[in-house]
Amino acid sequence: MTSAAVLVAAGSGERLGADRPKAFVVVGGRPMWEWSLAALAAAEIDRVVTVVPPGTELPGGVAGGDTRSESVRNGLQALPREVDRVVVHDAARPLVTPDLFARCLSELEAGADAAIAAARVTDTVKEAGEDRVVVRTHDRSRLWSIQTPQAFRRAVLERALAQPDAVVRAATDDAMLVEALGGRVVVVESSPANFKVTTPHDLEVAELLLGRPAGGRG
Ligand code: CTP
Ligand code: MG
Repeated sequence: MTSAAVLVAAGSGERLGADRPKAFVVVGGRPMWEWSLAALAAAEIDRVVTVVPPGTELPGGVAGGDTRSESVRNGLQALPREVDRVVVHDAARPLVTPDLFARCLSELEAGADAAIAAARVTDTVKEAGEDRVVVRTHDRSRLWSIQTPQAFRRAVLERALAQPDAVVRAATDDAMLVEALGGRVVVVESSPANFKVTTPHDLEVAELLLGRPAGGRG
């Protein structure tokens, strides 16, 4: 098998509201996307396609699309034919650890179509109507908060992303599209430390963790 990564960095970062696309905001002394690239290198995944905002210069980068799924699709198309295992990762998760990539990929060998990083939900989760009236409380022991990396058999991910545009656009992660086709998706336990930088508060936390004098996560 040959594995490769698609690092999606083409979002605008509207909720962060910085002066540049989110993945290019400097955190801990380097552009955010570089932290994930370093973790991929440490995991010995050296074939990486970074998907960047159209018009952005990055050696080896490919242009993203209007939605995350389109960006993933563009990245996938740029991978050499022999690649049959793909790990998709958000550049917005700079605290990812190398072992998580390896753990996701190894689940594919054990028979999964997709293996996705996930943290156990620690809050009680309730469902409420538009009127804010609670209709049920979910069984927390079965709930997972989904992250990236997400590893896929390439053929499965290609089929998942080939579904009608409306289906693809509505998906909030790629694994959802595999589920829709009846694929076997397994969760790989991760930590809340692998959070996604979404808001200015998240960026402050990431800076505290990555900007430590020891030089990051050491
Ligand atoms: N992403 C992408 N192409 C898009 C949208 C998102 O490559 N058209 C990437 C982002 O760069 C990010 C990851 O997908 O690494 C997760 O998306 P999100 O956190 O939503 O980032 P943004 O879309 O940039 O942020 P926002 O939704 O606040 O605009
Ligand atoms: Mg977004």
